[in-house]
Amino acid sequence: MFGRLKALPADPILGLLAKYREDANPQKIDLGVGVYKDEAGHTAILDCVKKAEKYRNDNEDTKVYIGPTGSPVFNDEMSKLIFGHHKVLLENRARTVSTPGGTGALRVAAEFIKSCKAGATIWVSNPTWANHTGLFEAAGLTVKTYPYYDYENKTLDFDGMLATLKEVSADDAVLLHACCHNPSGMDLNNEQWQQVAEVAKSVGFLPVVDMAYQGFGEGLDEDAYGLRLMADSVEEMIVCSSCSKNFGLYRERIGAITIIGQSSAAVDVANSVLLYVIRVIYSMPPAHGAALVETILHSDELRQQWFVELKEMRDRINGNRQLLVDKLIEKGVTRDFSFITRQMGMFSFLGITPEQVQQLQDEYSIYMVGSSRMSIAGIANSNVDYLAESIAKVL
Ligand code: LMR
Repeated sequence: MFGRLKALPADPILGLLAKYREDANPQKIDLGVGVYKDEAGHTAILDCVKKAEKYRNDNEDTKVYIGPTGSPVFNDEMSKLIFGHHKVLLENRARTVSTPGGTGALRVAAEFIKSCKAGATIWVSNPTWANHTGLFEAAGLTVKTYPYYDYENKTLDFDGMLATLKEVSADDAVLLHACCHNPSGMDLNNEQWQQVAEVAKSVGFLPVVDMAYQGFGEGLDEDAYGLRLMADSVEEMIVCSSCSKNFGLYRERIGAITIIGQSSAAVDVANSVLLYVIRVIYSMPPAHGAALVETILHSDELRQQWFVELKEMRDRINGNRQLLVDKLIEKGVTRDFSFITRQMGMFSFLGITPEQVQQLQDEYSIYMVGSSRMSIAGIANSNVDYLAESIAKVL
């Protein structure tokens, strides 16, 4: 059986991690996978997580099955984090269940959409996270793209986006990034969200919002502004969220899927299908990450500490954007890279060619995705001179 298989190349993002780890150059820089790093290049466990872990360790008294929904307390806390005091919660039209990471949420969403309509089309931004297309196609959906990033002008092609979204079918799904667009860092502003919400309402497509970076853009509520606006307008919607980045729980695999229905009764029917989808894929989600998140969100002290730690991560990334742009100027680069400071979250495209990306890797041990997507968190005061000098040389 296995003899029929052809080897596949390494994942374009995760493959970089292995290469970086093997590189013996002490000056190497990892701008590849989207994980937060501190000034020392370390992805530390948040203090609030450490405390929650101790609390769970001392108080947990069973490892018995928890069921396909995962912990109801976690699910409730996540709904509030995503929606605040939104009417969808007051009207009891939302159901949230925990999933193995944001990727698990997306795959469950894909299978759920397939249950609604076999072979449904989902529209994704061009470009989008490299794994979106694969995971939607693996569930049997048809993936099409709408214009998004204007590579030439390093901005949003909003007219192109809106024109395409007006033409999609009522029973198509449209994937939107809530904030910190991966890979471009180019987000919709509030007015643009309003316009997209109006189109979603008039066309009737199903918005599927991927929120992997809540709190990494402008703030927890600010980053959820667009999806809350969307939920004002439409009757049905899906949100896939992740606790990998904002709680630093990457390897614990904890995220959530939220479905919104036309009414409480309608969303209960949809939720029964969602739970079946989960049961036949992985039965039930891992519990540890959810237990940590619910412990933090349930405690005033830990929640406050988390706000502070999250802000620290956000501010460092935003500071890195300016730091790199200033250093490039200092090293004599005349090309305008100021767009990097106008983008949000973990990523931006540097805007160099795949050959130049390869050269940075081969000659300078600087690792970024082939599209020139940089994970901004990998920049530090200690490496930014070397980074800017190396970029100047390949330019
Ligand atoms: C990324 O885009 O680098 C992250 O979301 C990690 C991943 O799984 O690709």
